[in-house]
Amino acid sequence: MTALVTGGTRGIGRAIVEELSGHGAIVHTCARNESELNTCLENWSDEGIKITGSVCDVSSRHDREKLMDDVASLFGGKLHILVNNVGTNIRKPMVQLTVEEFSMLMSTNFESVFHMSQLAHPFLKASKAGSIVFTSSVSAFVSLKSMTLQGATKGAINQLTKNLACEWAKDGIRSNAVAPWYIKTSMVEQVLSNKEYVEEVLLCTPLGRLGDPNEVSSLVAFLCMPASSYITGQIICVDGGMSVNGFYPRNG
Ligand SMILES: NC(=O)c1ccc[n+]([C@@H]2O[C@H](COP(=O)([O-])OP(=O)(O)OC[C@H]3O[C@@H](n4cnc5c(N)ncnc54)[C@H](OP(=O)(O)O)[C@@H]3O)[C@@H](O)[C@H]2O)c1
Repeated sequence: MTALVTGGTRGIGRAIVEELSGHGAIVHTCARNESELNTCLENWSDEGIKITGSVCDVSSRHDREKLMDDVASLFGGKLHILVNNVGTNIRKPMVQLTVEEFSMLMSTNFESVFHMSQLAHPFLKASKAGSIVFTSSVSAFVSLKSMTLQGATKGAINQLTKNLACEWAKDGIRSNAVAPWYIKTSMVEQVLSNKEYVEEVLLCTPLGRLGDPNEVSSLVAFLCMPASSYITGQIICVDGGMSVNGFYPRNG
């Protein structure tokens, strides 16, 4: 199987790259930072894992087109797996978000995955068993402080996941999403350095701990593989129970 995973040099994306590769997929990834990408590629190569990569900012239309050109020629016009993983966040109250910040979040989180899916469609169809997995967030299900716009972009991803499941079923393409709560990655390092904040996070997480990237990548791999061949249009939370937690005091 051939796979494109966006944002594979750190965090959840890196775990997905390594998980899919471990299952025998031929994986291509991308990131903006060229030297970090090259270091990852060298490390994987030293471990005997063949992964390729392109420098690409998924918020740029030109970069997305170039990335998909690379992938089409590398994989001979067939792509089995597209993992639309890149996403970002700007934590601010609604009224403080600027026009530029709005535009950056929309293009990085939503426009990118919309266009990447469009670009990948002929190659996924050509594989005769295509699978798209989006990285959504629990912010698309419940309200999180200072995450109004980020939550809206992930909500849009959830509806895209469902629509593509129906629209592209005839093309042999499945579409699913994973929706994490706090996973220990560089994106949330800073906010998780605040011990009091982490205490509050754990209080609303029934499993009482943060998640690891490989607890997301294992689900992504399942959704990409024939084992999930009758699953499409689903958004699955990987959240230690956070999104179903109404009122369950820890010591109640
Ligand atoms: N971590 C969490 O708690 C959490 C919770 C819910 C949802 N999520 C979602 O999970 C996904 C991955 O997050 P993460 O926590 O693993 O992030 P991360 O640790 O910051 O890693 C992000 C990866 O994506 C790349 N990247 C970022 N912006 C990019 C861009 N514009 N174009 C191309 N590559 C880009 C980064 O490399 P470069 O910086 O070199 O580009 C890096 O490889 C996101 O969609 C996020 O919204 C995360």
